[in-house]
Amino acid sequence: MPDRLRESARLWEHNARADPLWAVLAASDKNGRRWDPLEFFKTGERDVADILAYLEQRGARPRAGRALDFGCGVGRLTQALAKHIARVDGVDVSATMIELARGYDRTGRCQFTVNTAPDLRIFDDGSFDLVLSILVLQHIPPPFDLAYLRELGRVVAPGGTLFFQAPHQRRVAPKARRAARLRRLARRLLRREGVQLAMYALPQEAARDALAAAGLELIEARPDVWAGDDWESFSYLARRPL
Ligand SMILES: C[S@@+](CC[C@H](N)C(=O)[O-])C[C@H]1O[C@@H](n2cnc3c(N)ncnc32)[C@H](O)[C@@H]1O
Repeated sequence: MPDRLRESARLWEHNARADPLWAVLAASDKNGRRWDPLEFFKTGERDVADILAYLEQRGARPRAGRALDFGCGVGRLTQALAKHIARVDGVDVSATMIELARGYDRTGRCQFTVNTAPDLRIFDDGSFDLVLSILVLQHIPPPFDLAYLRELGRVVAPGGTLFFQAPHQRRVAPKARRAARLRRLARRLLRREGVQLAMYALPQEAARDALAAAGLELIEARPDVWAGDDWESFSYLARRPL
């Protein structure tokens, strides 16, 4: 594994042990293991329902065969997908996240796998009717984010759908917000504990090129709020032609 990717994987293993649910969904009032798991997994059901409704609206609702949730964490979206799709693979770089995901799974239709390779060679070309990745590529350092994106495209089946989110660029932070962020960072570094999140931009032009290189047609890139106030983020919907 390349050094930069290994460092990022190490950080996620640390996060998975420190406060796994908050590392996945950093709601301000849930820091310090205060997520109620039931409430937490409900957010996954809402997100998946919204995403599937959007795909339907765009004529890109996938067949109910097989889906991939890349960067699945504790299976928040994986389990929710399994209510609509026969078999769902959740893949994550953190062994602890995957162990937790297996423990939380109530569907019996999710297959969870640790993948520390800088690619998805564990899956054949065109394996999935739906490939989903939310809140993940933003945490993977370049150029590995783009390499994974090309891999996400590669494993989409003919007629299948890819839906993912990535921050295009950082917004220029007003002074007060920048100062608050620096204070937070200093506190975290001094304690050397708690969840540590690194964020990276994946510019829209590069995302479009990666999709084209993987043979996918971009249907829409629409602004979203996944990456928080400091980032201009987009959700991408793409399909592999039949
Ligand atoms: C913020 S969490 C989001 C989890 C999930 N997508 C969700 O929305 O519930 C980011 C996840 O990406 C995983 N991750 C980070 N780098 C990864 C990589 N190179 N390959 C696979 N997963 C990765 C982390 O371990 C973590 O579980």
